[in-house]
Amino acid sequence: MAILKIARMGNPILLQRCAPVPDPTDPEIRRLAADMVETMDDIGGAGLAAPQVHVPLRLFVFRVRPERVGESPEDLPLGPTVLINPELEPVGEEIEQAWEGCLSIPGLRGSVPRAARVRYRGVGLAGEPIERVAAGFHARVVQHEYDHLDGILYPMRMTDLALFGFTEELMRAAANLARAEEEAEEEASAEGAPCA
Ligand code: NI
Repeated sequence: MAILKIARMGNPILLQRCAPVPDPTDPEIRRLAADMVETMDDIGGAGLAAPQVHVPLRLFVFRVRPERVGESPEDLPLGPTVLINPELEPVGEEIEQAWEGCLSIPGLRGSVPRAARVRYRGVGLAGEPIERVAAGFHARVVQHEYDHLDGILYPMRMTDLALFGFTEELMRAAANLARAEEEAEEEASAEGAPCA
């Protein structure tokens, strides 16, 4: 097992369309997937695609941590999952907007529109077929990782670049906004307090 070096935005490997994995049961693919899971967990990421570790093949790893799960029954927690040669299609028309980050674009976040529900298919390390319908965070992480296999990074999916920034600044801005709202609420309740 090894921690792998992650390619950052600007590296041309992140812009290419990756080739299918010829044999998903190849021990080298198993080793690569294990290293990718270790690398993802080391950084605390939710997903990692092979081109991000300089391997232009169609596979990615991801997980859905319990704290990321939403209310949909299709948004379930999932341990480390390897998906090889995936196919992806949206289910329905609904689009959701939410913040994303990427291990290849460290320190930044952007708000990205994605299909609210998707169906994905692929194979696992034993060559077993995998097919699921996913919603919420689960659907989002799979769409983000799948895009990496086609050379697409999340800023290329963004429709409002005003919603793109450094995580640190965005968190500070959100904290300031929450504080201002709290103060406004306190003021409002003080005004409404009965006079004794
Ligand atoms: Ni990414």
